[in-house]
Amino acid sequence: MKRLKIALRVSAVCIVAFITALTPSVIFGSKDIEFSQIFVNCNIMIQEWRKLIMKALVTARLSEDILSPLRPGYELAVNPNDFPMSRADVLDQIHDKDGMLCTISDRIDAELMDRAPNLKIVANFGVGYDNIDVPAATARGIRVSNTPGVLTDTTADLAFSLILAVARRVVEGDSRTRSGKWGPWAPFGFLGSQVTGKTLGIIGLGQIGKEVARRAKGFRMPILYNNRKSIPEREELELGAKYVELETLLRQSDFISIHVSLNSESRGLIGADQLALMKPTAFLVNVSRGPVIDETALVKALKAGKIAGAGLDVYEKEPKLAEGLAELSNTVLTPHIGSATSETRSAMGKLAVKNLKAGLCGEKPPNCVNC
Ligand code: DGY
Repeated sequence: MKRLKIALRVSAVCIVAFITALTPSVIFGSKDIEFSQIFVNCNIMIQEWRKLIMKALVTARLSEDILSPLRPGYELAVNPNDFPMSRADVLDQIHDKDGMLCTISDRIDAELMDRAPNLKIVANFGVGYDNIDVPAATARGIRVSNTPGVLTDTTADLAFSLILAVARRVVEGDSRTRSGKWGPWAPFGFLGSQVTGKTLGIIGLGQIGKEVARRAKGFRMPILYNNRKSIPEREELELGAKYVELETLLRQSDFISIHVSLNSESRGLIGADQLALMKPTAFLVNVSRGPVIDETALVKALKAGKIAGAGLDVYEKEPKLAEGLAELSNTVLTPHIGSATSETRSAMGKLAVKNLKAGLCGEKPPNCVNC
């Protein structure tokens, strides 16, 4: 309705522009055309047309190749830097935007949405969207989308590399080799833990969890899983995965890999009590979201030898680490790079742009999470 009104106004301005420009020649028979008037009127017209063009804020520096479906036709404000925009900058720029493409570093809450009365779509660059207050968006008629599927394999690959790296002490071995503290080869020196054939417990058997299970099958690992609900029997057979209660999974697994989304149920899912149930020889891997684990409790458990080690890609208060975590040699720590391959990040960008464009056009985005 608002856009229809603007369109009518623009048409009216066009007509007026012509009439006022032609008036002297028609009424007074003058041959002089009022060029200055045409200029003024054209300027007004351009300004009115600009109001018709949809505007979007893109909070991450994306390549032109990724943004190309939005050019021309949309007015984009793109973060020129490789680091996230500050909250103040986002709040400052969002007021006249019809859509935004944000990353998991941006907090999209009611305060931000209230500053953007035209906002129709928030397209997240990421599969997890706990950075967005979805109920607040829904209440304001704002569509929210994410980027599932395209990062599944990449994230599962990282989970599996953390399993291997922490069990076989790959990072510790690398620094020992580089530092020259590599002593003579000894039959029982620098031992790690076997991965092949050990029991893998997967918490959250969604798309990524299932891909981790497929990789584990190649390592002949029996798989236990815990999920909000069990998956169909046919899939359990295909993956070789058995549904168990969380407590059983914690007690029986040699490796535990977490793949849940962050919500009120999963926040703090693994705390001191759960860590105490794990075998002292077991390893914990997390590539989902940091707040699923009580990091302080984890540091204590690792220090006390209650569990053997941890491979982490995500942290409770990124980019900060819980005190003592960085000093522990029985951990492998990566900086939230689950989906960080050039192929996957490019695919995520393209999918987020597709969702944004659909939302700007008033259509349901392909990966809408609230419509
Ligand atoms: C996601 O998409 O949720 C990832 O954490 C980003 O790598």
